[in-house]
Amino acid sequence: MLIPLILSGGSGTRLWPVSRKNLPKQFLGLAGKGTLFQQTIARTRQLPGVAAPIVVASEDHRFLAADQLLEAGVEDATIVLEPLARNTAPAIALGALQALQRDADAVLLVLPADHLIGDTAAFVDAVKQAMPLAAQGWLVTFGIRPDRPETGFGYIRRAEAIGSDGYRVEQFVEKPDLSTAESYLADGNYDWNSGMFLFKASRYLEELAAHAPAMLAAVREAHAKASADLDFVRIDRDAFALVPDDSIDYAVMEKTQRAAVIPVSCAWSDIGSWSALWLTGDKDAQGNLREGDTMVVDTRNSLLRSHDRHLIATIGVDDLIVVTTPDATLVARRDAAQDVKKIVEQLKAAG
Ligand code: GDD
Ligand code: MG
Repeated sequence: MLIPLILSGGSGTRLWPVSRKNLPKQFLGLAGKGTLFQQTIARTRQLPGVAAPIVVASEDHRFLAADQLLEAGVEDATIVLEPLARNTAPAIALGALQALQRDADAVLLVLPADHLIGDTAAFVDAVKQAMPLAAQGWLVTFGIRPDRPETGFGYIRRAEAIGSDGYRVEQFVEKPDLSTAESYLADGNYDWNSGMFLFKASRYLEELAAHAPAMLAAVREAHAKASADLDFVRIDRDAFALVPDDSIDYAVMEKTQRAAVIPVSCAWSDIGSWSALWLTGDKDAQGNLREGDTMVVDTRNSLLRSHDRHLIATIGVDDLIVVTTPDATLVARRDAAQDVKKIVEQLKAAG
C-alpha cells in the first residue's frame, strides 16, 4: 500500500509578512491553483493505486488542514496532530506508526507540503521508478540537479547504479557551508535533496532504532498515548515534549547505509524565501513578479506583492522585494531575502 505522508508542520518564517504563525506558507496560495498544501495533495492523487494520505501537522493548524483537504475533495485523510514541533524525523516516525496500523508493508511517500513542482507527470514517473527500490528496503531520495551552491539544501553524492533508474547514495550531507557547496557543484556528482522520500514505514523505524533509539522510544510512547478526536489523531503533549528535536536528514539520511537516489528532472522549488518565489514565478518583460495592486516605472527584477488594497508603486529600483499586508510592509534587497527570518526573530523576542 502506497501512502502519501504530508509534512505540514513548518512555519515558513522567511515568507513573512504573508506567512504567519497562524497561517504558514503551506496553507497559502502563493503560486498556481490552490494552496501549496492542496497542490501537494492533488499531485499524489495522480499516483496509481494510492491510498488515503496521512497529514502530520501542528495542532494549531488542524482546521486549516481539515478545511483545505475537504475543499480539495479529500475526505479520507488521517490528520495526525503534533502538540509541539520536533522537526521532521519525529513527524515522519508518527506517520510511519500510523501507517503500520493500516498495513504492515506500507510504503510511505514523504512529501513536504510547501513545494512547487512544475511537472506532475515527471514527479509521478519518478515515484514509479522509486517503488521497486523502496520495496527492496532502500530509503529512496529524489535528486534535483543543482544550479547554484545553495546552502539551505541537503547534497547527495551518487555511487553506482542500482536497478535501471536509481543510484546508491555514496554520501548525504545536510546543509553544507558555502565553500563545501561550491566544491560539490564543481564536482558534478552531487544532487540536491528535494526533501521528498520513499521507503517502507517499517524500514524507517528500523533506521531510527539503529541511529536514534531514544527518539524512536519517545515517539512510540507519544503515539501509543494518542487520542482520537473527530477526524484527528491527537498526540499526547507531555509524552511528545520528551521527544528529541531533529530532522530526518541529520538523524537518518546522513547515517544510513541504505539510501538511494532517483534523479528527477522537473521544475522544483521549495519556495524557501521571497527570492526563491521570484525565481520560479512568471515575470514581466522587465523581470518583475507582481501580484495585487502594483505600478512600476523604471523597475527591474523585483518582486512586488500587495496582499491588501494598498497600491505598491516603485520608481527607479532594481532587485527589490516589496510585500505589503494590512499590518506590515517588507522592503528588502532581493539577495538579502534569507534575512527575513532575522526580522521574525526580533518580532518573537519583542513578544
Ligand atoms: N509535521 C511537521 N512537524 N512537519 C514539519 C516539521 C515538524 O516539526 N518541521 C518541518 N516540517 C515540514 C515543513 O513544513 C516542510 O514541509 C518539510 O517538513 C521540510 O522541513 P523544512 O524545515 O522546510 O526543511 P528544510 O527546507 O530546511 O530542509 C529539507 O528540505 C530541503 C529541500 O527543500 C531537507 O530535507 C533538505 O535536505 C532539503 O534539501
Ligand atoms: Mg523547506
